[in-house]
Amino acid sequence: MEQVTLKIPATTANLGPGFDSLGLALSLYNTMTFRKTEGGLSISGCPEEFRNEEHLAVKAYRAVLRRLGLPVEEGLSLTMESEIPISRGLGSSAAMLAGGVVAANLLHGAPLSKEELLAIANVLEGHPDNLAPALYGGLTASLTEEGRPMTVRLPLSPNLRFVAVIPDFPLSTHEARAVLPKTVPFADAVFNASHAAVLLGALGEGDPALIRAALQDKLHQPYRRSLIPGYDAVEAAAKGAGAIAFMVSGAGPTLMALTDDPHFAVGFEAALGGLRAHWQVLPLAVDTEGVTVISGQ
Ligand code: HSE
Repeated sequence: MEQVTLKIPATTANLGPGFDSLGLALSLYNTMTFRKTEGGLSISGCPEEFRNEEHLAVKAYRAVLRRLGLPVEEGLSLTMESEIPISRGLGSSAAMLAGGVVAANLLHGAPLSKEELLAIANVLEGHPDNLAPALYGGLTASLTEEGRPMTVRLPLSPNLRFVAVIPDFPLSTHEARAVLPKTVPFADAVFNASHAAVLLGALGEGDPALIRAALQDKLHQPYRRSLIPGYDAVEAAAKGAGAIAFMVSGAGPTLMALTDDPHFAVGFEAALGGLRAHWQVLPLAVDTEGVTVISGQ
């Protein structure tokens, strides 16, 4: 195979208490075409500032070549069309990395498993919570053991709907991680472990009361909300419109409401009122496939 076009989903990470572990793939996509060339690097379809060797998809692609013992300077052309907004907490970086590792593997005989590709991409990302659902689709829980990610896919009730509310300002993951404490009170750790455990069962069953109780966090959201202007008002609008739960998507600044009401987004938009000038409400379906090949030749 000399050329491959991939579709890679957006992802939301943490889901409240599952910091750096839980992730979910969503129906918003980047499409990336990778083609082997005679030499050099050519990138199109993204802002000028990203058209260089530091592009995450290129770094991931070359990490696979290195792993396979192949020359990393092999020529590459990358063309992309992005629906996933950058620095908004919807897994744009993970999508680039997932695309890069999957493409490099496919264009070199597909010797590596998804598990191995996840491990390679995870070295670049630092945590597997967005990468795992980007690669596998659906709801995933991951851990890292001696540097190697391990992931399980989990059932998710088809009644649940995720409604993203995306602001018109970015927030870098670096900045959002910098505000986190180095240590937390023992009681907060117990709170998160117990809530994450119950949440997984509740999401599988689609039990609104259990989800409402379990989808709470003390490890990251309390420290991050002040980085997201409008957080309190958007949360009040979501709860006023009847959301089952409300969370920061990944490191933010996108926020996410969880509902089982097909008409929730309409009421949510109305409740947001003037905030709609800066926040886009986007109902998203769950993506169950992860990275998929659109075409290859
Ligand atoms: N788990 C990560 C965080 C996701 O919350 O910082 C964003 O990369």
